[in-house]
Amino acid sequence: MRSSRNRYAVIGNPVEHSRSPEIHAMFAEQTGEAIVYERLLAPVDGFRAAVDRFRAEGGAGLNVTLPFKQQAYDYAKRCSVRVAVCGSANTLAFHEHDVFAENTDGPGLVNDIEKRCGVDLRARRVLLLGAGGAARGVVQPLLLAGVKQLVIANRTFERAQALVADLKVRLELGLRGYVSASRLEDVGDGWDVIVNATAAGLEGATPELPRHAWTETLLALDMVYGAAPTPFMIAAMHGGCERIEDGLGMLVAQAAESFGIWRSVVPRAQPVYDAMRARLAAGR
Ligand code: ATR
Repeated sequence: MRSSRNRYAVIGNPVEHSRSPEIHAMFAEQTGEAIVYERLLAPVDGFRAAVDRFRAEGGAGLNVTLPFKQQAYDYAKRCSVRVAVCGSANTLAFHEHDVFAENTDGPGLVNDIEKRCGVDLRARRVLLLGAGGAARGVVQPLLLAGVKQLVIANRTFERAQALVADLKVRLELGLRGYVSASRLEDVGDGWDVIVNATAAGLEGATPELPRHAWTETLLALDMVYGAAPTPFMIAAMHGGCERIEDGLGMLVAQAAESFGIWRSVVPRAQPVYDAMRARLAAGR
């Protein structure tokens, strides 16, 4: 159901770095939807009160960023199966007394890989690096895209094991061995797609993969983005990977999915990606 209200925001702490207001302003212009989209800084212990206030003031929806994605799930009255599986949400939609939670990070990643990068995920072998919230949020959509094998590798191996065990319970599937955990040094080779969902890039580092891990890799994608290649992207270049991408495409694609939930029209991601890439390159 389309909301007659038009006020949206991204809520987080910190939130001033967020590019979401620019992206949604471009979507609004493209689709002719008259929305207002702001940044909302909430105290670390004040998520619920900030959301209550935003709704009382007529807010129609929120994007949720760190550190509130799990609290967004707790806040919602209803959620998608995707959110129930990963336990975190990046999108809230408000209708009267109803609050619906969705997580568009995974569909954003899958759309970016398949549509913009042109890599069909069906029957692919995918290596996912990291076992935190960012990795957890994209597992189910990768499985739904039809990957043949998904290995989750993490610096702290026990966290990867725990994530796989938890996913098996939440998905209520045997998963028949096609989702498993690995140590970084044991990942093997022949990966079609390698996705970096660790926070290593934020500290100028990259997960340490053996050199042979990159053999035959069609696509290496870092969820982090910026004007310059990330350490993970540089490692992928040295490994001889065919195509190397950062997380800007995923960021724009997840935003397009959120916009679609709120306004019942899904904007085209590509022109907004191009505009955002140009801004980043120009240092804006
Ligand atoms: P998020 O919600 O962004 O995923 P998180 O839950 O703190 O954040 O998880 C961060 C992830 O990045 C973890 O997988 C972490 O590995 P550990 O579980 O071993 O801590 C990974 N990470 C962070 N810095 C890293 C680094 N320098 N090298 C490799 N992995 C790193």
